Amino acid sequence: MAGRLEGKSAIITGAGSGIGRATALLFARNGARLVIGDKAESVHETAKLIRDEGGEVSALQMNAGKEEDVQKLVETARLSYGGLDIAYANAGISGGLTGLFEHTADDWQQILQVNLIGPFLLIKHAGQQIMKKGSGSIICTASVAGIRSGAGCPAYSASKAGVINLVQTAAQQLSGTGVRVNAICPGLIETGMTERAFTYAREKGVEEKIGRLNPLRRAGQPQEIAFAALFLASDESSYVNGQAIVVDGGLSSSHPVTRQETGKTAA
Ligand SMILES: NC(=O)c1ccc[n+]([C@@H]2O[C@H](COP(=O)([O-])OP(=O)(O)OC[C@H]3O[C@@H](n4cnc5c(N)ncnc54)[C@H](O)[C@@H]3O)[C@@H](O)[C@H]2O)c1
Repeated sequence: MAGRLEGKSAIITGAGSGIGRATALLFARNGARLVIGDKAESVHETAKLIRDEGGEVSALQMNAGKEEDVQKLVETARLSYGGLDIAYANAGISGGLTGLFEHTADDWQQILQVNLIGPFLLIKHAGQQIMKKGSGSIICTASVAGIRSGAGCPAYSASKAGVINLVQTAAQQLSGTGVRVNAICPGLIETGMTERAFTYAREKGVEEKIGRLNPLRRAGQPQEIAFAALFLASDESSYVNGQAIVVDGGLSSSHPVTRQETGKTAA
């Protein structure tokens, strides 16, 4: 069976770990030729995993919040593959659990630079390249933190709310180009970003508490976000544009109320 991204070229940032790595592997398995970027050296490990499976990839250590570095990713895709079809702005930093009064303006600058200005830069430069093909897909990783409070520090949440608006405005600005722009809003996913919380819970023997507020009673895995990205990258989502798709096991589907758990009472 042909891969769902056969013949397409794709850029993915933050591909050295977590959601980005899982997506890079899945895209490559589906026939995409890749340019992957990350600030960490581990981007080269991701590239090796892809090549070991027979995939085609260039890996760059880069800063997703820096315009020249983003331009270099796009230029690499153009030179290597003769153009670009897909770009996934996924790199992000969390800012920890710092409170409103503890964060400095510099902390905010750093978080916004990577999490919000980074996606803007990729949309700007990849968008112009994808336009030349007449159709294509741009994806950004936002977060449930961008929908309401409770899933990150204020700067992180604001940056992700910005990403949700950015895909809406970018989709409109790209009217008539055939380029679609969407976001994915993951819930709690086990990755490098959340590793400490998972390690702590395991050490304390309270791992099951991690998913206790989620209808699925668990956190998510990076591949579960990668499959949403694969849908948005492929032509299967050809009429999905300007949307922020939540992938959180159902966590954000309710206000905090006492649950009626029909599953427990059914005969
Ligand atoms: N893990 C979660 O629960 C969760 C939930 C919602 C959204 N997200 C978002 O998912 C995205 C991926 O994060 P993850 O969970 O896979 O975490 P992760 O830490 O495993 O991966 C993030 C990657 O981004 C890279 N990165 C950070 N800053 C960068 C920069 N300036 N330039 C280039 N690369 C940079 C890191 O080196 C890392 O490899 C992020 O945007 C994050 O905000 C994660």
